[in-house]
Amino acid sequence: MSSLTVTGGRALSGEIRLQGAKNSALPILAASILSAGETVIENVPDLTDVDAALEILKHLGCKTEFTDRTVWVDSTTLTRADIPDGLMRRMRSSVLFLGPILARTGEATLSMPGGCELGPRPIDLHLAAMERLGATVEERGGNLICRAPKLRGARIDLTAPSVGATENSMIAASGAAGVTLITNAAREPEIRDLGCFLAALGVRVRGAGTSTVTVEGGRLRDRARYRVIPDRIAAATYIAAVAAARGRIALRGICERDLTAVSDAFRQMGVCLLYRGDTLLVSAGERIGPPLTVTTRPYPGFPTDAQPPLMAACLRAPGTSVFVETIFENRYRHVPELLRMGADVRVDGRVAIVRGGRPLHGAIVAAPDLRGGAALAVAALMAEGETRIIETRHISRGYEDMARDLRALGAVAETED
Ligand code: UD1
Repeated sequence: MSSLTVTGGRALSGEIRLQGAKNSALPILAASILSAGETVIENVPDLTDVDAALEILKHLGCKTEFTDRTVWVDSTTLTRADIPDGLMRRMRSSVLFLGPILARTGEATLSMPGGCELGPRPIDLHLAAMERLGATVEERGGNLICRAPKLRGARIDLTAPSVGATENSMIAASGAAGVTLITNAAREPEIRDLGCFLAALGVRVRGAGTSTVTVEGGRLRDRARYRVIPDRIAAATYIAAVAAARGRIALRGICERDLTAVSDAFRQMGVCLLYRGDTLLVSAGERIGPPLTVTTRPYPGFPTDAQPPLMAACLRAPGTSVFVETIFENRYRHVPELLRMGADVRVDGRVAIVRGGRPLHGAIVAAPDLRGGAALAVAALMAEGETRIIETRHISRGYEDMARDLRALGAVAETED
C-alpha cells in the first residue's frame, strides 16, 4: 500500500509549474475517437485516471503513445464498441466514452462507471441526451446497450447543468447530422476547452462555456493537435497549501480567469494572490482569517472539488467557517480523518461547521477520495509532527506527484510504496 508522509510546520517557498487539467484531458481523450485519424494532445497530466482512459482507447483498438505529457492517439484502427466492467469501474469519466463510441460506431455497450464515492452519481442525464439524439438505451444483465445507426442533431434541455452530460452531449452531437442545441449546459472552463478541441477537429461549436451550446456535426478532420488548459483544482490545492503552511510560492502556467471564485475565497481569508501573466504569486503570513462561509456551486461558483483543500486551510483561521456542499451528497469524507489530526469540524447533512485556530497534530489518516486526500496533505503541512496518509491511490488519480510538488515548495514530503 503506498503512502504519503508529510512533516508539518515548515513555511513553503519555491515554484512549480501546474499540471494540465485532468477534467479537460479526459473528455478530450474520449473525443479523440470521433473521427478515424491521428490526434496529438499536449499538456496531458500523468495520472492514473489518464492511464485508465488510455487503457479504454487501447481496448477499443486504438493505438496510443504517452510521452513527455503528450498523448498520440491513432483511432483509425478502432474495432470495438464496448467497455468491459473492469475498465468502467476504474473511473467515473469512462462514461464520457459513451457519446464518442456511439457517434463513431452506431452502438456502445458499457456498465455503470466507478470513481470517487461522493454519493449517488447517476448517469440518467447522459442517457437522456443520447436518446434525444436518436439512440435507444437498453439495460441488460447490468450492461447498458445503446444503439443509434445514425445520430441526429436535436434540442437537449439538461434538467441540471451536469459537466459530464454536457460533454457527452457535445461529443455525440459532433458526430450527429444537423445542429444540436444544448440548454442549461454546465459552464466549467473544461467545457470551453472541449469545445476548442472539437473546433480543432472541424466541428462548429458555439457557446461552449456558456449555458447554451450549439454544435453542428459534419465532416471531421482526420488530424488534430491540441493543448489542454492548466488544472485549476490543482492550483486551488497549492494555494490552500500556502494558506495552511504560510510562505510564498509561485505557480507557473496558470489561467487567472478560471480561478475567480477560488481567488475571491482565499483573498477573503487573507491570502495574498498576485497574477503576473501566467504566473501566480501566493503568499500567506502567520495570521490568516477571518473565517469563511463557502457554498459550492456549478461554475462560475466555488468548485466542489476545491472545497476539501479549502476546508483544511480554514483549520488555521481562528473562528467558525461554514461550508455548504450543494453538488455531491457525500463530499465530507475527509472530515473524520481531519478529526484524527485534532480538527474541530461538525457535519450536519450538507453543512460543515469548522472551528479553526486549534493546533493540529500528525496522525495516520486514509485518503477517502481524490480531493479529500488532497485536503489531508494540506492539513498535514500545518500539523505538528508527521502525518502518514495511506490509500494514496486516490490522490494519484488527480495529482501527478504531490510529494514531488510539495518538496519543490520546500515541504518535507515523501512517498512510500
Ligand atoms: C465533473 C468533474 C468532477 C466535479 C464535478 C462537479 C470531471 C472528469 N469530473 O464530474 O471533478 O466534481 O464535475 O463540478 O470533469 N448528476 C445526475 N445525473 C447525471 C449526471 C450528474 O444526477 O446523469 C448529478 C451528480 O450526481 C451530481 C451533479 O449532477 O450531484 C453534478 O455532477 P456532474 O456535473 O455530472 O459531475 P461529473 O461530470 O461526474
